[in-house]
Amino acid sequence: MKILLIGAGGREHAMAWKMAQNPEVEKIYCAPGNGGTAKEGKCENIELYKNCELLKFAKENNISLTVVGPEAPLVEGIVDEFKKEGLRIFGPSKYAAGLEGSKAFSKDFMKKYNVKTAEYAVFTDAEGSLSYLKKCSYPIVIKADGLAAGKGVVICEDYAVAEETIKAFMVDDVFKGSGKKVVIEEYLEGVEASILSITDGKTILPFVSAKDHKQIFDDNKGPNTGGMGAIAPNPYCTKEVLESFDKDILKPTLKGIQEENMDFTGIIFFGLMITKKGVYLLEYNVRLGDPETQVVLYLMKSDLVDIINAALDKRLSDFDLQWYEGNACCVVAASKGYPASYKTGYEITGINDVADKVFCAGVKLKNDAYVTDGGRVLCTSARGKSLDEAIDKAYSDIKKVEFEGMYYRHDIGKVK
Ligand code: AMP
Ligand code: GLY
Repeated sequence: MKILLIGAGGREHAMAWKMAQNPEVEKIYCAPGNGGTAKEGKCENIELYKNCELLKFAKENNISLTVVGPEAPLVEGIVDEFKKEGLRIFGPSKYAAGLEGSKAFSKDFMKKYNVKTAEYAVFTDAEGSLSYLKKCSYPIVIKADGLAAGKGVVICEDYAVAEETIKAFMVDDVFKGSGKKVVIEEYLEGVEASILSITDGKTILPFVSAKDHKQIFDDNKGPNTGGMGAIAPNPYCTKEVLESFDKDILKPTLKGIQEENMDFTGIIFFGLMITKKGVYLLEYNVRLGDPETQVVLYLMKSDLVDIINAALDKRLSDFDLQWYEGNACCVVAASKGYPASYKTGYEITGINDVADKVFCAGVKLKNDAYVTDGGRVLCTSARGKSLDEAIDKAYSDIKKVEFEGMYYRHDIGKVK
């Protein structure tokens, strides 16, 4: 079996590593991959980016399965394009990917199917938004409708910040179209949880719960990032939380996917807020989370290629998903300055000295040496019998890695 895996992050390195463990897989082409996938067994990086180039490659190279890591190609409709040509690809249709690609579309879907979520209103003009915002109580949340590389959500403490945000999104158009429409949403206070799941359109099979750590500094201070570390399972996902997630979020979502004929075979990621008033859905993503994948797949005992094939063959209801006992933790090492500007090109040492596993993200190979090539550079993932053991192992591994300006948080798994 030859697989084409699209994407270049730590998530994709973890997916490639996991899929390579399937004995029937002979080759995984990573487009474009990174320095980690370049060195992973059975993997080969290919410099292809555009959907049309990827389609041509899949046809000409006898690819049995294409797996899409990031959201952008899914929202652009890569799954529809591949299916039209009779190719086997794992991911939602363009229409279903709207659940991530448009916040207004996903909130309307949640409302229509009674998925528990924050109150909201949608606006397409700055004046209308501002007169609404004058009457709101604060804090309030403003979200750009379209994809904005994780920067499209602002929690506004007062009207002045809300006004500034509307100006940036709608008038100055900082997201080049993505913020021309906004969702203004009730602020929810609580603890977040990520539940990555797989669906074949008939069943949604949730994976073990995870917890991301989004802010750059210890104690959840500083600006949001793509994620500075994660643990699984999420200690706040108690039995009661998971029961209300199933009843108030998962089941109504599945009903909606079916009633809207969404053609959704792929990953559905539920971003939850666990509050005193119950469990709310903040957002759907239609791909795996990064860095949640680097702990969830590290705990997964079942074969990932088998699960994906079961989803594509609509056999998920019979799939017996198995997990390792215990906990996993990953700690992200970032370039100095991230999430604002940073320099790249520094040599990285110690990647091969760790006891558990390094998943590379912003890493490339230069004359066969690893060098930094992004904001989030890599993470160390580890498994332990307890959460404390997993945390200790991930931290003892990250201390073996070095590059100039390397920064990581010291409290992953230890704070809310
Ligand atoms: P989203 O892309 O919708 O997940 O938003 C990104 C981040 O913004 C979330 O992970 C939360 O930390 C925060 N956020 C989003 N919506 C809300 C809300 N209604 N109340 C409080 N925080 C929120
Ligand atoms: N770590 C959050 C995300 O992947 O969206």
